[in-house]
Amino acid sequence: MKYKYKCVSVIGARPQFIKAAPITRIMDRFGIKEVLVHTGQHYDHNMSKVFFRELKIREPDYNLGIGSLSHGAQTGRMMERIESVLMKEKPGIVMVYGDTNSTIAAALAAVKLHIPVAHIEAGLRSYNKKMPEEANRVLTDHVSDILFCPTQTAVKNLRKEGFTNIINNGRLIEDSFAESRSLDSPAVVNVGDVMYDSVLFNLSIAKKSPTVLQTYKLSQKNYCLATIHRAENTDDRTKLESIFRSFNEIAQKVPVIIPLHPRTKKLVKDPGRFDKNLTIVPPVAYMDMLVLSSSARLILTDSGGLQKEAFFLNVPCVTLREETEWVETLRSGMNTLAGTSESKILRAVRHQERVSLKKREKRNFGDGNASERVLNIIKIFLK
Ligand code: UD1
Repeated sequence: MKYKYKCVSVIGARPQFIKAAPITRIMDRFGIKEVLVHTGQHYDHNMSKVFFRELKIREPDYNLGIGSLSHGAQTGRMMERIESVLMKEKPGIVMVYGDTNSTIAAALAAVKLHIPVAHIEAGLRSYNKKMPEEANRVLTDHVSDILFCPTQTAVKNLRKEGFTNIINNGRLIEDSFAESRSLDSPAVVNVGDVMYDSVLFNLSIAKKSPTVLQTYKLSQKNYCLATIHRAENTDDRTKLESIFRSFNEIAQKVPVIIPLHPRTKKLVKDPGRFDKNLTIVPPVAYMDMLVLSSSARLILTDSGGLQKEAFFLNVPCVTLREETEWVETLRSGMNTLAGTSESKILRAVRHQERVSLKKREKRNFGDGNASERVLNIIKIFLK
């Protein structure tokens, strides 16, 4: 196939495989040749390869094999290798996703070579500078040329930081975008959430094969699903222990399953001391996770993605953080911020058990066509 345009997409960590999949899948249709770069930030089979297989993402053109290092070393090494790829490939644009070290490394490498950057999932803020992700987001947004926001809240956050070139997400999006380019300032546009696209596309496929429930002897709406991996929780012994005490307490009443991120696994000593109803399992693949989350009675998590998926799937959620970027999920009452203290977590769980399942405003996250909007705009930009 003859392509008119070229983009380099950089991904590296589990949530980025999920965000990139719906875009990568339809890139051809827009006449854009995609050069796919995997930084290697996540490298375990069940953190990486299995997502490529299930989400039908083709093999990356470059695998940089960076792996685990300190933040500075990891980001620095990524930048160096991404720069070489960009100098060789000379793309018209670089696409980056989310807020990981792979995101900021790619954005910085590109901007220094004067290659335009498109940031997917722009404008999210926790206003907690201790999170490495917050620095990654803010800096990536401020060097990007197109900021694809998933929600109106994200647009507002960017407006507060001085971005004024907000593109109307109405019918005339193409015209207004073309106009904005001549203003020569970064364009901000609410396209909806690509993770919502992913859930809509994959849920029925996942539900055809719900074997993960049998594997772990779980029954519909009769267990809690928990995940924990954020550095601000795992790197603080007191917080991590308090979180696990609350999981253990919950497990005395209802089974709790925890697909454990490798970072957390290394830190959880002596899992044998927990209640027999608390099952720690290796990270699960995307389709199994969709089955586990959609069938759960309640989700407890510090993951941004899973909070949102709970919302899309109408499953009550308790968030094990002091703040969230996804404030829309709180407004519906179906997500409660509990922080990390055992008593607060248990109180939040009791609260969520009483909340009735209202119809939630999923429209806040778009209509499931965010990926197409992104590529439409990128195509106009590359013209
Ligand atoms: C990263 C992202 C985070 C995202 C998360 C999803 C940053 C700063 N954080 O966090 O935003 O929510 O991915 O999972 O980029 N490890 C393995 N095998 C793997 C991957 C990681 O064992 O396949 C271990 C390594 O020991 C590593 C630790 O997990 O030191 C942390 O990995 P890292 O890539 O630094 O960040 P995550 O915690 O995964």
